[in-house]
Amino acid sequence: MWKPKSRRSPSGALVALSLLVLALLVTGCFPSHPQSTFDAVGPIARMQLDLFYIIFWMAVLVFVVVEGALVYAMVKFRRRPGRDLPQQAHGNTRLEVAWTIAPTLVLAVIAVPTIITIFDTANTPPGDVMEVVVTGHQWWFEFGYPDLGISTANELHVPVGKTVSLSLESDDVIHSFRVNKLFGTTDVIPGNTNTMWFAADEVGEYYGQCAEFCGVAHAKMNFRVIAEEEADFNIWVANQQRPAVRPGSGTQEALGQRVFGLSGCGTCHTIGGSEPEDMQQGRMEAFMAREEGAMSPYPAPNLTHFASRGTFAGSVQNLTDANLRLWLEDPSNLKPGTRMKQLATAYNPMSLESEELDQLVAYLTSLE
Ligand code: CUA
Repeated sequence: MWKPKSRRSPSGALVALSLLVLALLVTGCFPSHPQSTFDAVGPIARMQLDLFYIIFWMAVLVFVVVEGALVYAMVKFRRRPGRDLPQQAHGNTRLEVAWTIAPTLVLAVIAVPTIITIFDTANTPPGDVMEVVVTGHQWWFEFGYPDLGISTANELHVPVGKTVSLSLESDDVIHSFRVNKLFGTTDVIPGNTNTMWFAADEVGEYYGQCAEFCGVAHAKMNFRVIAEEEADFNIWVANQQRPAVRPGSGTQEALGQRVFGLSGCGTCHTIGGSEPEDMQQGRMEAFMAREEGAMSPYPAPNLTHFASRGTFAGSVQNLTDANLRLWLEDPSNLKPGTRMKQLATAYNPMSLESEELDQLVAYLTSLE
């Protein structure tokens, strides 16, 4: 006997798909997520979260009132057989006044805490403050500690609880600087210095990411804030202030150091002591003044204590021998958009032999 084919309505699949997408989106709201803003671990993040809740609940109130009125009207005045149009309320003065005043009140409730929060987050509290200069590059972040004479890349060490005052600058690209658990977004802009401050309440590593599309390697420029006990921070500082480890003569590391020198890596990278601020500035000026096609220096991460970092290449690669070798073999393969291959004489006109790669890895990973 013939049976009609059952036709499944597409709405079931659509609902299931929507729920799945929603579930995936909502996982971003779990405080346990490494980049969730709902787990505020510092005064700035807390102020911003408090403000978010005020705005969120005001929005919920508006939604419930407006949708409630809409649903009520739809049900109460729905078309019924034999019923004329309901009485029209056009030009009702009381209603007009009510829905002019109500949004004003809603906006006022939001505006006052918003303005207070803007000023509180913009003004660094007085007292014991550590200065850090953040410089944006294509495609990584440089962290300079002017009072300590330290310059590092992509891993910002801070003592837990310490107020950190940031100056945000950039060489040649606009990035958005943020660490969700610690503070919201502030832009780094060439020719303009923005300022902000933060503190981390708990020891830990907090993930940061550039928050606006800035170019090819936008998704491949992470960074992290490492908040540690004051004593651990001081140990880190003391190590960063030391000159670079010198390889013993005749070792694989020493051969790597030689390759580093011969290949011109030192044109852009410093391996030595602490890096004078002027050096990066000089590189940038030379880069800007370069003749078309000419090899030129570019401010690249200070490698003096490269092996003290857990990650490299804009904090997207864990620092292991294997990863570092892959990177040195072809940086653009691991991080499309990086300018290392384009600018470094090590790749053009020279090239690195397999043996030289091993030697470089040995040298760089010895720089603790
Ligand atoms: Cu830098 Cu996106």
